[in-house]
Amino acid sequence: MTTDFSALATAGVQTLQPYQPGKPEDELQRELGLTDIVKLASNENPLGPSEKALAAIADASQNLGRYPDGSGFQLKATLADLHNVAPAQITLGNGSNDVLDLVARAFLGPGREAIFSEHAFAVYPIATAAVGATACVAKADNYGHDLDAMAQLITDKTSVIFIANPNNPTGTWLSKGELKAFLKLVPSHVIVVLDEAYYEYVEQENYPNGLKLAKRYDNVIVTRTFSKIHGLAGLRIGYGISHPEVADMLNRVRQPFNCNSVALAAAQAAVLDEEHVVRSRELNSAGLAQVRRGLQSLNRPFIDSVGNFLCVHVGDAALVYQKLLEKGVITRPVAGYGMPEYLRVTIGLESENQRFLDALEAVLSE
Ligand SMILES: Cc1ncc(COP(=O)(O)O)c(C=O)c1O
Repeated sequence: MTTDFSALATAGVQTLQPYQPGKPEDELQRELGLTDIVKLASNENPLGPSEKALAAIADASQNLGRYPDGSGFQLKATLADLHNVAPAQITLGNGSNDVLDLVARAFLGPGREAIFSEHAFAVYPIATAAVGATACVAKADNYGHDLDAMAQLITDKTSVIFIANPNNPTGTWLSKGELKAFLKLVPSHVIVVLDEAYYEYVEQENYPNGLKLAKRYDNVIVTRTFSKIHGLAGLRIGYGISHPEVADMLNRVRQPFNCNSVALAAAQAAVLDEEHVVRSRELNSAGLAQVRRGLQSLNRPFIDSVGNFLCVHVGDAALVYQKLLEKGVITRPVAGYGMPEYLRVTIGLESENQRFLDALEAVLSE
């Protein structure tokens, strides 16, 4: 008799749809035999890591026989200094994704509810279902988070609210005033995750710094990452900042060595290299303007974004995605986010953005 392993999994895991990552360049190369490929699918920094981070990586690579510092002492000290918080408030993660998962494992479970928005980052439903908690999804307002709709979903079973600011894949954002008004409504027993993976890219004046809100509200956890503007997506490192008792709970479910030694060293160098951050932000700002202009001249509607990516309306997105792949341009379909007529494109180098715009023009006129 064969075993039905799916029936052995927990109820939450049985309902899970695995995360769909952007297609790696190697895969497209294998599938279509293409060599000249532009990957604009995973919101990575086209400049990659800073020289200082690369030097730290080379240095840390000399000592791979040893376990990393499981407490992440040095990186926590640096981040604490930078953000004016105590090291005990920081939780390091194998990417900020790991921290989101730790939040779910520490604060969610069967009988508990998590609230997030329609079109919000895909890890929220996965982390919620994986621990058997119930997802309460608020209708979006013009693709952005509708905080009133989210507040209305709060019950006495609500344990966690996930808010991406800005949100991926929509690139929409919440202002200081909107978030402050919302946090006033949230009971103190509900953990609010402010996911700020794209924080450093946002240039809008009334965009809030979640860390200031976390100082005022003990139930707020801010998550940040080294995968985006710091260009270290491949090393997997991110962090959360919260009340120390919340960090203590996260630490209890954390794997002892969840952050590797190379990532710890690279992050330490990256976070201090403000010049690289500024260069990356400026490149992104110019690239966003270039892509916006290009899409306007192609008469393609798009959702305006403050991140390093943008969703463009293309109609049959699965078909357009495939045709772009054939031209060596990898974008990201977002049908899984309830947006089957959109493709998300990451802002790349000027030449990569142009390649995308030219390929899109060609595909749409076929
Ligand atoms: C909104 C948001 N949060 C968190 C993450 C997780 O990033 P990482 O685990 O690489 O830090 C991503 C990655 O795309 C994201 O878009």
